[in-house]
Amino acid sequence: MISQVPVAKTASLPVGIFDSGVGGLTVAAAIRQRMPREQLLYIGDLARQPYGTKSPQTVVRYALKAADFLVRRGIKALVVACNTASAVALEPIAARFPGLPVIGVVEAGAAGAALASSHGRIVVAATEGTCRSGAYERAIARRRAGAHVICTPCPLFVALAEEGLTDGPIVEAVARHYLGPLLDHAAATDCLVLGCTHFPLLAPALGRLAGPDVRLVDCAEATAGLLAEALSSGLAAPAGAVGGLTLIATDAPDRFARIASVLFPSMGGIPPVELADLF
Ligand code: DGL
Repeated sequence: MISQVPVAKTASLPVGIFDSGVGGLTVAAAIRQRMPREQLLYIGDLARQPYGTKSPQTVVRYALKAADFLVRRGIKALVVACNTASAVALEPIAARFPGLPVIGVVEAGAAGAALASSHGRIVVAATEGTCRSGAYERAIARRRAGAHVICTPCPLFVALAEEGLTDGPIVEAVARHYLGPLLDHAAATDCLVLGCTHFPLLAPALGRLAGPDVRLVDCAEATAGLLAEALSSGLAAPAGAVGGLTLIATDAPDRFARIASVLFPSMGGIPPVELADLF
């Protein structure tokens, strides 16, 4: 039984975002691009990553802790910038914070795939937890009946991204190991969904492996679109507001800042990262 927590929302509050690490910054970057006036409050749960190999019960527990933390700091909407948590924890989070707009990345990725795929032959690269949940298969089937969806776990991609190792021979070898047989065989595959927010960081290598006939789908922009819609009824930052980014990590804040600044030069400087515990 989940106890409910009331949330007071106002347009001047930040948007809360969380992931297990740097991956969710792919979503934060798309939100900043689309809504530069918004303040973003981002937490990377480095102390507990990876989420993708954990049981659903554990991921729900971690996700509720992260959401609790952000709501206590004060947010007007929550973006679950983690597919693994979006796959299993959206309902528990929404049940705990009635009235708080909660946006997950799986719905956004599935919507992108349904649009991008020409023949409905879709491969989803994700974490073990996301694949085990069947969330992508269900979300794509709701939008595109008859689509053929294969979800395949690629857990080492998370470690590579957290290491700042996003291209080159090691990334190519790991990508071939996970996806080569699928992409070679399924000549008809027309869409590869990057079903973990860490994976867009490896997009150049994944795109080369997939080839020009396979569309890569990243959930970040579609998520920013869903957030814009959720804020459109009186919650968007007012004209003239100055946007910003506050970063928090549950461990190793300096490492988080270093990797984030290597991976996200376009974010215009990574601010110092606060350390916080979720217990
Ligand atoms: N970036 C997350 C996801 O989208 C989690 C990766 C992990 O911690 O395993 O699934």
